[in-house]
Amino acid sequence: MKKIYLFLMLIAATMLQPSLANEPDSAWVFSYATTKNRGGNGLHYAWSIDRENWQGIGPEFRFLFSDFGTWGAQKRMLTPVVFQDQQGEWHAIWSLNEEVGQFAHAQTADLYTWDSQDYPYVMDEDNVLLPEVSFQPNENNYMITWLSEFEDEKKIYKTTTTDFKNYTPTTEGTTGDRLNSREEVLIDGEKQLGTVSKVSWKLIDGLIKFYELNQYKEILRSERLTDDASRFADLEPLTAEITAIPENSKAISNMLIGIFFEDINYAADGGLYAELVQNRGFEYKLSDTKGRDKSWDSKKAWNFTGAETGFVMDTISPVHPNQKHYALLTISQVGEALENEGFDGIALKKGDQYNFAVFARGLDGTKGKLLVRLVDESGKVYAEGSTKSVGADWKKLELTLTAKEAIEDARLQVIPQFTGKVALDLVSLFPQKTFNNRKNGLCTDLAEAIAELHPRFVRFPGGCVAHGDGLDNIYRWKNTIGPLETRKPDRNIWNYHQSMGLGYFEYFQFCEDIGAEPLPVIAAGVPCQNSSCGGHGQQGGIPMCDMDDYVQDVLDLIEWANGDKNSEWGKLRAQAGHPEPFNLKYIGIGNEDLITDIFKERFEMIFKAVREKHPEISVIGTVGPFSEGTDYRVGWDFATELNVPMVDEHYYQPPGWYLNNQDYYDRYDRSKSKVYLGEYATHIPGRKLNMETALCDALHLINVERNADVVSMTSYAPLLAKHGHTQWNPDLIYFNNTEVFPTTDYYVQVLFGQNAGDEYIASQINLSDNKKDVKKRVASSLVRDSKTGDYILKLANLLPVSVDAKIKLADLPVAEGEGVLTLLQGEPTDESARPENRTILVAPEFEFEVPAYSFSVIRMKPKE
Ligand code: AHR
Repeated sequence: MKKIYLFLMLIAATMLQPSLANEPDSAWVFSYATTKNRGGNGLHYAWSIDRENWQGIGPEFRFLFSDFGTWGAQKRMLTPVVFQDQQGEWHAIWSLNEEVGQFAHAQTADLYTWDSQDYPYVMDEDNVLLPEVSFQPNENNYMITWLSEFEDEKKIYKTTTTDFKNYTPTTEGTTGDRLNSREEVLIDGEKQLGTVSKVSWKLIDGLIKFYELNQYKEILRSERLTDDASRFADLEPLTAEITAIPENSKAISNMLIGIFFEDINYAADGGLYAELVQNRGFEYKLSDTKGRDKSWDSKKAWNFTGAETGFVMDTISPVHPNQKHYALLTISQVGEALENEGFDGIALKKGDQYNFAVFARGLDGTKGKLLVRLVDESGKVYAEGSTKSVGADWKKLELTLTAKEAIEDARLQVIPQFTGKVALDLVSLFPQKTFNNRKNGLCTDLAEAIAELHPRFVRFPGGCVAHGDGLDNIYRWKNTIGPLETRKPDRNIWNYHQSMGLGYFEYFQFCEDIGAEPLPVIAAGVPCQNSSCGGHGQQGGIPMCDMDDYVQDVLDLIEWANGDKNSEWGKLRAQAGHPEPFNLKYIGIGNEDLITDIFKERFEMIFKAVREKHPEISVIGTVGPFSEGTDYRVGWDFATELNVPMVDEHYYQPPGWYLNNQDYYDRYDRSKSKVYLGEYATHIPGRKLNMETALCDALHLINVERNADVVSMTSYAPLLAKHGHTQWNPDLIYFNNTEVFPTTDYYVQVLFGQNAGDEYIASQINLSDNKKDVKKRVASSLVRDSKTGDYILKLANLLPVSVDAKIKLADLPVAEGEGVLTLLQGEPTDESARPENRTILVAPEFEFEVPAYSFSVIRMKPKE
């Protein structure tokens, strides 16, 4: 621990150091990338005064990272060339990999604040290797040349540009066009290939300081509560005075706590969506899992007890073209069964009723009933019933089954009571008890856990699911509404399958049921920047010739939600059972996209169309995946330029970030867009949730609440995760087929959701120990809820000692008597801490001992 402090002080001291008295005016900078990690480590610099002896900055600190393509396989920067243009701006151009006919370009003024990258297509086929740039004074343009390799033959190609946005058509070049501008230099004993430029010492000094600042930030980020027992070994319990300053009150958002729903970790099928049959439509495909799970095909989760040839897939005459596959059974002996294993089994509750449904059609004149059973592994029957007879055409057959006993892992059997051929599709089993008894509804226990959060809004369908893995995978709301047999299933970007059973209607209905505003997030005409399908990342946006249709889809969504029941799209909502409008108020465009020209062009089109036709809808823009960096900066500039009402920020941070960035939003300009903190969470190594992460969330939300005049909404992400099917940890609520496992961080959300206010009353904490490390671990927020008139005090103590607090509420009209305290408390590593309620005596001035490692909420009634 002491070592870290020493290092911190050393770094701080270095940063505070004034420039040396004896500095050169200029020096050399060497720009390079190594081949380590397949070229995935980005751009590095070294400097030299004599062009002989080089000092790496870092060394190998990453000043620029390639954004191209998917994680793991791509994001490579090969053979970068860095040069200064005639106006003094710096440019980097690099090769992306050995295959694509594109290079990458990025621009900067200072060699570390880089603008968005672009990847011009310069070759129809073949690759782009070893790019170089030269200024052509006679033409007043820049010539870019590269080598391209095809069938072992290398050729030179070239293009020219004046602005690094528009390029002339590629032509073949000659060796005379090549500069061979790369040099080999020795850095820390290793030879590196790169480009050398003469620059002012000030520029190099800026690079060194940038690196040092980043090191310093990393140290701050690494601060952990788990180190605090030793960090504060000598600390005695503290006292504090918390004084309200009512004259400094302000209105704050009453929408602060919402939820982020994404179909990740089996959150929808097999999760919140109550369907018990897995792969009910026989639409699973190997490509759902990108070929990783060889057993993943249209028969996944199904088994036929008869001959292998008795169960085949057919596509000739489906129930609906959107559900292409169906099962074709040839029954040679009555008793042969088609079985479904459910999602890790089918859990039944004793006495509960279950709705079975199937589309069936007899072939070659076959007729007869289907016996439907729920059985265990040994064949013991838990429920059974028979359908009406199948006919020559597709017919939906339905029946109700009642479970005689409870079982966690039953399977469904469909047993035709005849021999011959029968086609089956959309085989479904639903508990009758769904949340609010909705048809095609949601699991009660999970939905109830979500409702407990009192979310003011629900974001849907993601996350990455919203913008999808490549153009073909962009989430299209129209595919998710209407009768189930007409919905269009799709591959899930998290490498499984989306039946679209939990579609836009179910989502809006759920919002209404829990009193939350819907917040649909639609793709900004670009797929996920990490896409691996149909191109490399988001540079392949929806072709401009198709954008009008895409924009119309967005406008149609608004009509579907809010339009009259006789309007074209409102009619579909009414037919689904909701003639009244849903009163949609918000729409998000884009999900943490890279703010490239491709993104901007499409975003602007959608934004302007929505603003023009529906000025009543608040559009939420996006500012990239991080709390700083290119997309955050450029995204904010873009949103400001367009006057976007709100922007969606995302960041997943370690405890140290939350401890050391408490003024993050205090610094925000109140005249710009409002903030929707759409994805955030505290991440620790091992990606668990415990009191350390919960307290950091609470600390952050206290700071956000103080700034809820600028931060209008927040949603922790992700929300749900099924045990055994997680692609992402941590998540707020874990579950299996029979149990829900809320986390410590879930309870922090509950406490904020259930104790929201719309007026913030400033307060001040005077602590008996004023050391910075101590002070930053104690925080409070005082709000008033105008609906109830209640005053709510939230207190976070992240210290290992208690704080004896004197609460002074000044002239606030708080009733003297009982207040309700909810306390969440536990050692940083405690994963099982749960909040407890008790009453305490409150008054305009009262005392309260804030326990070590705790989050307390005190709810106080106003004077009558
Ligand atoms: O919350 C999980 C993922 O994190 C989201 O899908 C994506 O937007 C972010 O990167």
